[in-house]
Amino acid sequence: MCGIVGYIGHRDAYPVVVKGLKRLEYRGYDSAGVAVINNDQLKVFKKEGKVVELENYVKDKDLSSNVAMGHTRWATHGAPSDVNAHPHYSSNNKLAIIHNGIIENYGSLKKELIKKGHEFISETDTEVLIHFIEDIQHHENCSLEEAVRLALTKVVGAYAIVVMCEDDPGSLVAARKGSPLVIGIGKNEFFLASDATPIIEYTNEVVYLNDFEIAVIKENKLSIRNTQDVPKNPYIQTLDMELEAIEKNGFEHFMLKEIFEQPRSIADCMRGRLNAGEGYLRMGGIREYETKLNNAERIIIIACGTSWHAGLVAEYIFEEFCRIPVEVEYASEFRYRNPVINEGDVVIAISQSGETADTLAAIELAKSKGAIIFGVCNIVGSSIARASHEGAYTHAGPEIGVASTKAFTAQLTVLSMIALRVAHKRGTITLSKYKEMLVELETIPAKVEKALELNDEIKAISEIFKDSRNFLYLGRGFNFPVALEGALKLKEISYIHAEGYPAAEMKHGPIALIDKEMPVVFIATRDSSYDKIVSNIQEVRSRKGRVIAIVTEGDDIIPDMAEFVIEVPAVNEVLMPLVSVIPLQLLSYHIAVMRGCNVDQPRNLAKSVTVE
Ligand code: G6P
Repeated sequence: MCGIVGYIGHRDAYPVVVKGLKRLEYRGYDSAGVAVINNDQLKVFKKEGKVVELENYVKDKDLSSNVAMGHTRWATHGAPSDVNAHPHYSSNNKLAIIHNGIIENYGSLKKELIKKGHEFISETDTEVLIHFIEDIQHHENCSLEEAVRLALTKVVGAYAIVVMCEDDPGSLVAARKGSPLVIGIGKNEFFLASDATPIIEYTNEVVYLNDFEIAVIKENKLSIRNTQDVPKNPYIQTLDMELEAIEKNGFEHFMLKEIFEQPRSIADCMRGRLNAGEGYLRMGGIREYETKLNNAERIIIIACGTSWHAGLVAEYIFEEFCRIPVEVEYASEFRYRNPVINEGDVVIAISQSGETADTLAAIELAKSKGAIIFGVCNIVGSSIARASHEGAYTHAGPEIGVASTKAFTAQLTVLSMIALRVAHKRGTITLSKYKEMLVELETIPAKVEKALELNDEIKAISEIFKDSRNFLYLGRGFNFPVALEGALKLKEISYIHAEGYPAAEMKHGPIALIDKEMPVVFIATRDSSYDKIVSNIQEVRSRKGRVIAIVTEGDDIIPDMAEFVIEVPAVNEVLMPLVSVIPLQLLSYHIAVMRGCNVDQPRNLAKSVTVE
């Protein structure tokens, strides 16, 4: 969602900021803007559309300045337009703001401000906030930092903001509550961004701003206070991220690069944690509360999107090996119910970004009811990682493509490891099965590598089905969540309507859709429900549906029934989703490319959903 970039220091700031905005494009947005202080004047330039349109718009303008901020907006209040794009000015044009989040009480603040004579030109909550700050500064006759602080004590909602002031070109004021903000520390220069990707080419020293903190950033000084006016010591962390991790490295799209990275990202996820030969499996991030997890009477998994699908697979794995009942919840539903959380319950929150607003709020709700939270996040230091009591990082590296691929398989890997360890400790798995599963886990990267060799074959199938208007994805058991994930991938990036369903449940509705036009993707690998899914394939064939089947290598039954067969290596059924999802990622990718879609930045979607 909205992306924030800021710079103050000795460089020309605009090029740094605009490059940063491009690095943040993956988050999803519909307009972009910058503010600079040039010739003693605070100047704002903004445009609906992509960053490149903003660049064209400012091409012949003088933006030289040593301080700048930039924003990519994902519309919430007010349609995408030049006027609604950020930055927004105060009424005297002396202040400007960029904002990620939602000011929920903006309506009442706006009414008050209108009574006082303020006029608004946009429909945004953000413009209200900068007028409010201006109003406080005017009436209290205080510094900008103090006006921001006082304003934030009155604001309801979530925000990451940066404010610039024409009269103080040597400062940027930034604050956060609920939406991420990272400060990069250079030599006599500072960088600001919604995540570390715009920063790492300049410095790997960063400070993650905490909720309710306000930073005043000058060329050579960073000071932080909280909204209660208590000074805070910046906690400097060193980023473990390489620039090449956020570049395409010869691939046409980030999504394809990330699909092909999976053998490595899955191996990275197991590195140092699992060694089947020596018989160990350890999760360094789960120590103090490990007993609580091992003795859990119920596990509640909360997540959104693809992470929720990883949670569904985890439900099957935990129930299979640990014999603990599991409930998988959409974070957005969980947070607005009055969920029952008992003493023996533990919560596992899954999130690639670690910033999803609904997941974060669901965690806070569960915590307030006394639950212990285990976070499974990809982004180190993210809000969800910090809000969790303990957890495990997925170590998949930055995922830039909006459609999640390598983060999903890394989540499955972490969750499988946690489940196996818990089962071992509880004694609900035999030693021989436990050891067999550790060995099996170690074989996954090579099997994923093998599945990736199907790329050309899948591309050819994509050509045949690229103009289909609907798709059905069917699976059973461990492959049922894979069917959901396959359908989601296709919807997200190719805009083809697709539904994932448990294969047998098809008879209760979707079967009515099947005709000779309907492609039906069966995930029908050899497992305990194989015979059942073979019958489901027959049911679709008899209604002339076009079957594309993902099968286990050497299958000699389904090839006689399906129009197209994609063979993946044999894997224990519990871990099969790690491999059976690969052809589905590739299928959606190729179809989307052939349809001319923007694969890495699909319309309307955001990578990091920081508003509810
Ligand atoms: C967005 C992304 C999805 C992601 C979901 C949950 O919708 O586009 O790819 O699965 O958010 O995000 P999280 O970062 O919490 O896993």
